[in-house]
Amino acid sequence: MAIIAPSILSADFGRLRDEVQAIETAGADWIHIDVMDGHFVPNITLGPSIVKTIRKSTKLPLDVHLMIERPENYVEAFKDAGADWISVHVESTIHLQRTLNLVRELGVKPGVALNPSTPLYFLDHIWDDIEMVLVMTVNPGFGGQKFIPEMLRKVQTLKKKSERVAPMIQIEVDGGIGVHNISELKSAGASIFVCGSAIFGSGDYKNTISRMRESLRS
Ligand code: DX5
Ligand code: ZN
Repeated sequence: MAIIAPSILSADFGRLRDEVQAIETAGADWIHIDVMDGHFVPNITLGPSIVKTIRKSTKLPLDVHLMIERPENYVEAFKDAGADWISVHVESTIHLQRTLNLVRELGVKPGVALNPSTPLYFLDHIWDDIEMVLVMTVNPGFGGQKFIPEMLRKVQTLKKKSERVAPMIQIEVDGGIGVHNISELKSAGASIFVCGSAIFGSGDYKNTISRMRESLRS
């Protein structure tokens, strides 16, 4: 089953509660929350208190994408704020497996994120510690960037590999995704689609999400 996860980064933060409720009503499956610290990526966004506000505004699963250094120090705060999923970047923590296990011990589903240039072999020894791989299809830091075409092949290779070694793992794609490319990413093996500007930049969230679903069915 395909999951559409609008990225709240592209929402109007002055009307956060309304925006969250609007995408829920429009048919979103999850809400993707981009946490940036100005160190791991050149942008600063939001912290646990905003996640808590979002948690109070919706029943949808909250998919927290940590783009921060030393994520291990903040995992518990995001769990307390209401995260259902927490994805940690391979490049952001020295003791990756320990960090992923901490996420799981807290009762949150662990995901691991890879920057576009990070090879898939970084997953070789952590298959048992994750439930999702988040393939960045742009360099993380900002919404509204252009999809990197080479990432299609990365998703295909990952799908082949994961079917062999960990068939239950889901593949999430994030960055530059919209109605124009969502179906080829599905064919490549992705099942969770993060879309920021394509949804929040459109006048009609419901219509955009329906067009995405239509494209996913074809
Ligand atoms: C980028 C973030 C993305 C971003 C996606 O660092 O991880 O989730 O919000 O935005 P769009 O869909 O506009 O590329
Ligand atoms: Zn993200």
